[in-house]
Amino acid sequence: MERTFLMVKPDGVQRGLIGEITARFEKKGFKLAGAKLMNISEDLAKEHYGEHKDRPFFGELVEFITSGPVFAMVWEGKDVIATARFMMGKTNPAEAAPGTIRGDYAVQVSNNIIHGSDSPESAVREIGLFFKEEELVAYEKSVAAWI
Ligand code: PPS
Repeated sequence: MERTFLMVKPDGVQRGLIGEITARFEKKGFKLAGAKLMNISEDLAKEHYGEHKDRPFFGELVEFITSGPVFAMVWEGKDVIATARFMMGKTNPAEAAPGTIRGDYAVQVSNNIIHGSDSPESAVREIGLFFKEEELVAYEKSVAAWI
């Protein structure tokens, strides 16, 4: 079963959106495999966003993601990587459709509420950066047969 890494960013935590965001993925039918509220160190932020290190906003991005707690999650389900990105909406909230998380709750790209892995390779890398294997929980969900 496919897994993805999702993270409510500091703006989403400060605005009290953890429950709203988590509920969307639960109601969609995905299965939560792990979650934790945590502060991101500067080293972890730089590693997580390493592929963007030469972009002009890199410093701002690292400063923002380390500015307060994030809610890190691992979700499982069929095509969860692409579907979660679709549910998040476009990176720039101004272009994100209503009904998506960014379309409903965000205004500017520097404060866009949520991060989600963009490929199977990123998902494996990001889950490994943020979670130890023993922090992920394997269990059966009886509703799974109906989705
Ligand atoms: S994406 O979704 O990876 O294709 O988006 P991308 O445009 O490559 O942006 C990569 C991450 O950088 C964030 N971002 C910014 N932060 C601050 N200021 C500006 N101008 C900016 N532009 C992009 C964007 O939200 C992506 O972060 P994540 O956490 O992956 O969403």
